[in-house]
Amino acid sequence: MKRYRLSVCKGSSCKSNGSDSVAAAARDELSARKLQTRCELYRGGCYGFCHMGPNVVIREETGRKRDPLSPEDFQLMGWEGEVYYSHMTPEKMKRVVAEHIEQDKPVVELFGHPDEAE
Ligand code: FES
Repeated sequence: MKRYRLSVCKGSSCKSNGSDSVAAAARDELSARKLQTRCELYRGGCYGFCHMGPNVVIREETGRKRDPLSPEDFQLMGWEGEVYYSHMTPEKMKRVVAEHIEQDKPVVELFGHPDEAE
């Protein structure tokens, strides 16, 4: 069974676009579906994609050794199993928990594309 770490950006821009309610939706949905043991929730950021926020990054836990500087808390690492979701809302967050976390099916249509021009 896969395990995940879900990070909701708590940078000021994402916060002003509603990341607190996105994080609350993630917490509530993980608990309603009893997925807390499979997915750790934390607040990261700023990832540098403020104009695309609220931003959420999900990574598969692979037992990778942690860098003490935790660069993954404020940038995308390009790791296998790393998924970036942009323009998140509480509704989208609940869907991501139900599909990506519970069923191991990342929600491709909600992926963010940081390389695209605005
Ligand atoms: S504040 Fe979230 S990416 Fe900058």
